[in-house]
Amino acid sequence: MRKPRHRRPVGLRDAASRRGLLFGSAVATADLVSEAFRAALLRDCSLVSAEYEMKWDAIASLGYGPADALVRFAREHGLAVHGHTLWWHGAVPDRLAGAAPQGFAAAAMDHLAATARRYAGQVASWDVVNEPLDLDHGRDDGLRASPFLDAFGPAYVGTAFEAAAEADPDALLVLNEMGLEYDSPDAERKRRAMLALLERTLAAGAPIHAIGLQSHIDAGHQPRENPGLRAFLREAASMGLRVLITEMDVSDWRCPRAARDAMVADAYRWHLGLVLEACPAVAVTTWGLTDARTWLSEHRPRVDGAPVRPLPLDRRLRRKRAWHAIAEALAAAPEAGAARPRA
Ligand code: G3I
Repeated sequence: MRKPRHRRPVGLRDAASRRGLLFGSAVATADLVSEAFRAALLRDCSLVSAEYEMKWDAIASLGYGPADALVRFAREHGLAVHGHTLWWHGAVPDRLAGAAPQGFAAAAMDHLAATARRYAGQVASWDVVNEPLDLDHGRDDGLRASPFLDAFGPAYVGTAFEAAAEADPDALLVLNEMGLEYDSPDAERKRRAMLALLERTLAAGAPIHAIGLQSHIDAGHQPRENPGLRAFLREAASMGLRVLITEMDVSDWRCPRAARDAMVADAYRWHLGLVLEACPAVAVTTWGLTDARTWLSEHRPRVDGAPVRPLPLDRRLRRKRAWHAIAEALAAAPEAGAARPRA
């Protein structure tokens, strides 16, 4: 009798790939020490995103070693890599704090070119610019006050994408943002500002290929339907853009303890259902795979002090309702028409 082939258990990556999508998680090299975590990651994920170690400040302090190790692990296991992130106001090396715009511009361009070139052919997609908007900063264009804006002027997003395309012509280039997902007047204003930014940057010839929706969701506030987000994504699709969900997690900090797993699962189901239907999608990435390690433990602790439960797997890597809700949403997604970044 033929020996049964060793088959990997069916995971979220399989539900995603049946619809032409990638499913991934943010990881750190420290996560990969655990054999149990590696097994869970390889079962569920066809993509990894660096939670910290590919950022400018991380590379400035740690060197490229940790990022190289993440990329090496991904390549050894046939996983796609989503590069996070080349230019972000939240990841500027300390030595450049307060630098003169000219000096900052040279350093920022050197970093972007060197990093995108280093991983060309190994990274499927890049968050080229992260979080360009902050409407509380009072600019008519909604751009966030940042050293990148000071150094390059309001066209800096286009500058970044042109430089990234030159350094890695094959990567899918993503403009990543937070807070576009909510059902609120502020989120609607931010969506309008993002569409205007995309329109003028694309009109200037910049190679923006996709929008990254970070998707840090609050289970206590996530509506089943969100017409503003749906219209935004339809408009983005009409510009020829694709969408990636880049950092999804669902905070349960305000959920009643007994109802929280169901509320978190519903938020995954509704948000993924809406996004995957409204715009050609590439990948869905959660900001961590297991509740054992999530930034929300510190950022959004529960008022009752119980450990938070925002991710697909629990602290012992067991599947939760959220895992099944994601699997269902992926299975129900339209067949993705757009070309996929290579793994
Ligand atoms: O690795 C160093 C360690 O060597 C050092 O001893 C320690 C104390 O300084 O810091 C460690 O680095 C920390 C790193 O996470 C790894 O744990 C940094 O200080 C800390 O700032 C960093 O926080 C990350 C944060 O981005 C800033 O880069 C979070 O893990 C990460 O979840 C968060 O992710 C962001 C996305 O990039 C953008 N969207 C929002 C999202 C949540 O804030």
